[in-house]
Amino acid sequence: MKSYSIALIPGDGIGQDVTDAAWQVLSTVATHSGFTLTSTPFPWSCAFYKETGAMMPEDGLETLRRFDAILLGAVGWPAEVPDSVSLHGLLLPIRKAFVQYANIRPHRLLPGVQGPLKAEAFDILCIRENTEGEYSGAGGRVHQGTADEVAVETSIFTRAGVERILRFGFEQARQRRGKLASVTKSNAQKFSMVFWDEITRELAAEYADVEVTSYHIDAMAARMVMAPETLDVVVASNLFGDILTDLGAAIQGGLGFAASANINPDRSAPSMFEPVHGSAPDIAHLGIANPIAAIWSGAMMIDHLGQQDASRRVMAALERTTARGIGTVPGRDRTETIAAAVLAALD
Ligand code: NAD
Ligand code: IPM
Ligand code: MN
Repeated sequence: MKSYSIALIPGDGIGQDVTDAAWQVLSTVATHSGFTLTSTPFPWSCAFYKETGAMMPEDGLETLRRFDAILLGAVGWPAEVPDSVSLHGLLLPIRKAFVQYANIRPHRLLPGVQGPLKAEAFDILCIRENTEGEYSGAGGRVHQGTADEVAVETSIFTRAGVERILRFGFEQARQRRGKLASVTKSNAQKFSMVFWDEITRELAAEYADVEVTSYHIDAMAARMVMAPETLDVVVASNLFGDILTDLGAAIQGGLGFAASANINPDRSAPSMFEPVHGSAPDIAHLGIANPIAAIWSGAMMIDHLGQQDASRRVMAALERTTARGIGTVPGRDRTETIAAAVLAALD
């Protein structure tokens, strides 16, 4: 029997609740489908930081490297640990060290979910560059605390980095509806974004079967609201992709529905699966977090591990659940009620 070892990092706030729910569904579908998933939980979080002074042990990355995949809830508890410390101590180093350069975030309405838009029939795959760009961490501050203070944050875009994410997007477009939108801000940012547009054009010549359109990020934000049905694969830089995918979450009914996969396409290190949302301090410990985004992320994980049939079964169970109106109204159903309904809907 095939067996996969999963590192489970619930993290902070609602992270524990939604990963518990996702794990229940994943372990059940594994049993139904004839494979084994074993989980090793790691308590790495802001609470761990307060106890130990670090978000994860020094050899944390080496430990994670041995797993087949990582399932993560959410990281961040800004009331006690600054986000710049917690995220740079756990989530972001994993994405970077494990070369999870493709962050895949699907945006579509599950049946029975009422989105805020008139358009219902959209199916967007956002592909976010996940290891460089605006998140490179290059920069600094001088004359700190004085009237002359200057803060610099440098975006770093490499040809290899831009080319591989765009190529990944083109390949996805080929497997979907053959359309790729490349997002920049090359009217204002004259180096990195012009460079990105140039590489888009170079690759477009190679992928002549894919219809390519370049958009500015501002126009893309409007298009995702006004005409989301015109979009198929959307490729964007780290920061632009981050913002667009919370927008994508909003048009699919809310952050409780938006899943994500941080993929290392070369499989040289584990990939990581996590909902788009954060730790939601405003609803933490109330038991009303929507676990659908985390369960969907889990479906993406088992798909990546090669269990496509089981992944489809999880998605079908999610769709049967929302079609019955369970989990569709933010804050109405309890996390455990939604998880139980998904479990019951598994075939
Ligand atoms: P957030 O995504 O945690 O919450 C934004 C809003 O969406 C809140 O009103 C919250 O209640 C709601 N929401 C989020 N997930 C939900 C769910 N599953 N069900 C129902 N409602 C949900 O964003 P934030 O408030 O900006 O961030 C809180 C903390 O999480 C910060 O520390 C932030 O840095 C961190 N964060 C972490 C990740 C991650 O680990 N991947 C992602 C985003 C934010
Ligand atoms: C996300 C989150 C993270 C990001 C934060 C918490 C650093 O917003 O996964 O979308 O910006 O990548
Ligand atoms: Mn985000």
